[in-house]
Amino acid sequence: MNPALYATEGAPVRTEELPLFPFRSPDDDPFTPVTGADRDRLDAPITRVRLPTGGWTWLVTRHADVKQLLRSDAFSADMDAPGFPLLRPLPPQSPRNRSGSFIRMDGEAHLRLRRMLTAEFMIRNIARIAPLIDDVVESSLDAMRDAGPPADLVAAFALPVPSLVICHLLGVPYADHAFFQQRSGILLDRSAAPPQVHDAIIELRGYLGELIQARRADPGDDLISRLAVERIATGELEADELVGMALLLLIAGHETTANMIGLSVLLLLQHPDHLAALRADEDLADGMVEELLRYLSIVRTGLPRLATRDVEIGGHTIRAGEPATALLSLANRDDDVFADGSGFDPYRQAHQHLAFGFGVHQCIGQPLARAELRVALVRLARRFPGLALAADPAKLPTRDTSIVYGLAELPVTW
Ligand code: HEM
Repeated sequence: MNPALYATEGAPVRTEELPLFPFRSPDDDPFTPVTGADRDRLDAPITRVRLPTGGWTWLVTRHADVKQLLRSDAFSADMDAPGFPLLRPLPPQSPRNRSGSFIRMDGEAHLRLRRMLTAEFMIRNIARIAPLIDDVVESSLDAMRDAGPPADLVAAFALPVPSLVICHLLGVPYADHAFFQQRSGILLDRSAAPPQVHDAIIELRGYLGELIQARRADPGDDLISRLAVERIATGELEADELVGMALLLLIAGHETTANMIGLSVLLLLQHPDHLAALRADEDLADGMVEELLRYLSIVRTGLPRLATRDVEIGGHTIRAGEPATALLSLANRDDDVFADGSGFDPYRQAHQHLAFGFGVHQCIGQPLARAELRVALVRLARRFPGLALAADPAKLPTRDTSIVYGLAELPVTW
């Protein structure tokens, strides 16, 4: 059979004729998720696109359709299933290396692990760590001020803040951050070679496995210790599963928020009126953070799923065994839900955005991410009133091949 033809229950698909996804236009400004030219090639709200791994996926771009897809139990998030829409080939690995990674699990297996973390990330528990977030933000800003201008805001502030916080919550030594940040960058990079991804997984799992052993012998006041004592010791959880859960939190807990902080600062520096308003009135922060989440939609490559039975989405039938990708960035700019969705308006009510996903896999860390973003932006605005960009905004290096979009550097002065 012609490899470019994929049989489905419908007509065969000629993949070579489809637009290649993810769309990538390095010349665009960092706030344009899909250029006009690529948008024009999507001939409908639900349309087929070609994947770099040779297959194809339905790309779902409307807000209502994305919600329907993500809340439907007719889709699997298990990337091992044949036909799953992969952006890079799977690395060779044993099921043991996947254990605990509940973001890629379905049904009861997913819920069983997620439930063990729900209370830890509830708003009231995150409110309890407000002093920690304050301290981390203030001390990172002190260090940036003491080193003097210019500074790379990504390295000096955007990365350390969420990284220090998640390390503290999990009980992972921050001193090891260079080790796990380098490897987690590989896991998120869709251009990384499969053997490189494999090695990064093995090294990170080995590191966390040893840490969990140490915490079991000598528990501290942190999430890994609590789960080790309350769940592994009681037989409810395997040590390997805790390794996977901790790995997921470590990666999701700093790369995402770090990229949000960097891009948010760049955007606000280009809108000095909004930055001044935030400096003058911190009550604006909550609404502004929601709009930043919507507008920036950093999970740019969308959320991949595989249909387990025929299902109608937005008047279109997706057949059992067919792949679908929920494109959050376009759904979050849907003019039917957000007036002038392509514009940034920190005064709009953006709370319906889907930047944290939707349905059973919706981001568990969102109260933490919101708290970090709010404190980081307000304190930065207050303490550095003369903050300015120290580079040509058109030439800033971006994380184009990461599944979580962001800036690699943000030179600033004050
Ligand atoms: C602004 C920052 C963040 C953004 C934009 C974000 C976005 C997302 C999205 C879109 C999903 C859904 C994935 C899917 O359905 O396939 C997700 C899931 C998840 N996020 Fe976040 N996230 C952020 C911060 C965090 C933080 C700080 C943590 C942890 C401390 C975290 C932990 C997780 C976990 C564990 C899941 C998997 C949930 C599940 O499968 O049940 N995230 N996140």
